[in-house]
Amino acid sequence: MNRSFNLSRSSGNPFLSSNDRLRSLTLLMLFCILLLSACKVSQPGDVESSIMKSVKRTVTIGDKEKKNPIASSPDAIKEGGEHFQHHCQICHGLDGHATGVPFAAQMSPPVPDLSDKDIQEYTDGQLHWIVENGIAPSGMPAWKGILDDDEMWKVVHYIRNLPAKGSLGAPAIFKEEAEEHEKMEKGATPEKEHHQHKH
Ligand code: HEC
Repeated sequence: MNRSFNLSRSSGNPFLSSNDRLRSLTLLMLFCILLLSACKVSQPGDVESSIMKSVKRTVTIGDKEKKNPIASSPDAIKEGGEHFQHHCQICHGLDGHATGVPFAAQMSPPVPDLSDKDIQEYTDGQLHWIVENGIAPSGMPAWKGILDDDEMWKVVHYIRNLPAKGSLGAPAIFKEEAEEHEKMEKGATPEKEHHQHKH
């Protein structure tokens, strides 16, 4: 409060001071409201998140009409999968269903299962747009400049042809952590170790 008082004084107009005070009160209130709604956004209710979703779907995510210039083929899907497993597995799991990603549910919004109907309903152009631009302000990064265009289109083919949930196991980095953890909890159980290892 003091500060706004001083400010108006130094501006040389004593009549503004109460106005200024009112203004800073209003600003303070606005700020509180924003803070409150920011808290709400981090844990959206059903209505709110469905509104957010439809805004995202209809306004934010572009390129609905763009066609995938790369024909879908086992090779394209495989190559897309390789890029996916290089760049995306850390959050989306090897299989795109976020298998074995320990923080997936804690992210806000959470890392979705890419086989979800909502995501499969995007056109190829929209999926490509999402990969290229990311989704701000969420944890989904933009890949422009990291993946080239063809690579992104192939990743889209992979997203259309995801392997069954859990079929590829957890990303190595989390698997090792989980195994360590399990060992520490249960005492070493070496028989378990060969399970799905493919080094
Ligand atoms: C750092 C973690 C992280 C990485 C790496 C990541 N994503 Fe995501 N991704 C997210 C999060 C979090 C969301 C949820 C965003 C949302 O719903 O707003 C998401 C959402 C998505 C969606 C769905 C968007 C929607 O509107 O529902 C697609 C498709 C996607 N990611 C593809 C990819 C691909 C392909 C890659 C690799 C090139 C990748 N992601 C890498 C965290 C990540």
